[in-house]
Amino acid sequence: MEIVVSGVRPTNRQHIGNYFGAVKSFVAMQEKYDSYFFIADYHSLTTHPKPADLSANVRQTIIEYLACGLDPEKCVLYRQSDVPQIPELYLVFNMLAYLGELERANTFKEKVRTQPDNVNAGLLTYPVLMAVDIIIHRAVKVPVGKDQQQHLEMTRNYVNRFNYLYGVDYFPEPQAFSFDEKLVSIPSLDGEGKMSKSKGENTVIFLDDEPELIRKKMLRAVTDSGPTEMNSEKSVPVQNLFDIMQLISAKDTVEHFDAAYNNCTIRYGDFKKQLGEDMVKFIAPISERIKEISGNEAYLKKVLDEGGERARASAQRTLNDVREIIGFKKF
Ligand code: ADP
Ligand code: TRP
Repeated sequence: MEIVVSGVRPTNRQHIGNYFGAVKSFVAMQEKYDSYFFIADYHSLTTHPKPADLSANVRQTIIEYLACGLDPEKCVLYRQSDVPQIPELYLVFNMLAYLGELERANTFKEKVRTQPDNVNAGLLTYPVLMAVDIIIHRAVKVPVGKDQQQHLEMTRNYVNRFNYLYGVDYFPEPQAFSFDEKLVSIPSLDGEGKMSKSKGENTVIFLDDEPELIRKKMLRAVTDSGPTEMNSEKSVPVQNLFDIMQLISAKDTVEHFDAAYNNCTIRYGDFKKQLGEDMVKFIAPISERIKEISGNEAYLKKVLDEGGERARASAQRTLNDVREIIGFKKF
C-alpha cells in the first residue's frame, strides 16, 4: 500500500475551512493508504509558544481530528516530538541542505519580512525538518495545500541528493497530493477571501462553536442589497454563502434558494437562517464527539502512546538503513 504522510501545526481550534480543506481528505485517505498523520509540534517552536499554550493546542488538535473521524485503528496518529528519530535524521539532512537554497524558500522570505526580530535558524531549516517528516516513513504522497509545493520540491531535491551522494536508490520522491480532484476553499463570512483564524472570530465557524453562536455568526454574514433583475449573476459575498450551502445543506434546499435568488424573491434573512440551522446540524455530531473525547484522558493517552509507538517503529527502520548507508557501521 502506498504511504501517505501529512502534518498539521497545532492550533487551538479547527474551523470548517480546515475541515473541508484538509481533515475531510485525511479521513477519506486513511481507508485507502498506509497513512501517517501527525501534529508538527517541533515546527511550532519557531514562534516560541508558551508551554501551556503549546500543550493545550496539541491536545485540542488531536481531539478535533479524532472527532472529525480520524481513526487510530486505520491510521497512525502521533506527535512529532514523540519520535526522536525525526530530529536525528534532521541532523543528517541538514548537511545536505545548502544555505542559498534555504534562504530562497518563499516561506522563509516571508517570515524575514513579517517577523524580522525572530529570524532563527529553525525557521531557515523548517523545510529540512518537513522533508524529514515525510521521508522518515519513505512516503510517496503528501496531502498539502498549494502553499507547501515549494517545500515538497525541496524534499525531492534532498532525496535525490542523498540517493546520488551515497549511490543508492533508497528514498522515493514524494509528491503533493489532493484526495479530492478539485481543491475547495471555504470562504470567509465577511464576504472576502478564505475563511481563516487570522480574520477574526466572527468570520469563522469553529468546530466547537455552540449552536447559538453559529446561528448568530451566520445571520451576520455579509451579503448585498439583493437581486433586482431575474437570473442575475451573484455577487461574491452571496456566491460565497451559496458555496457553503452547497457543502452542508440538502440539495433541494440549495435549489429552493437558488430559484428564489433567480426570481428575486429571496430574503437573505431566511437564507442565512437556514444556513445557520444546517450548519448547526452539520457540526452537531462533531462537536458532540469533541466534548466526549475531551473528557476521556485515558483514551487520548492510549491514542498517543500507540500512535507514537507505531511511528517510532517505522522511523527506526528508516534510520537503521540510513545509518548503514552513510557508514555508521556497528563494530
Ligand atoms: P488558518 O488559515 O485558519 O490559520 P491553517 O493555515 O492552520 O488555517 O490551515 C490548516 C489546513 O486547513 C491547511 O491544510 C489549509 O490548506 C486548510 N485550510 C485552512 N483554511 C481553509 C479554507 N478556508 N478553505 C479550505 N482549506 C483551508
Ligand atoms: N508545513 C506544513 C504547514 O505549514 C506542516 C507540516 C510539517 C507538514 N511537516 C509536514 C505537512 C510534513 C506535510 C508533511 O501546513
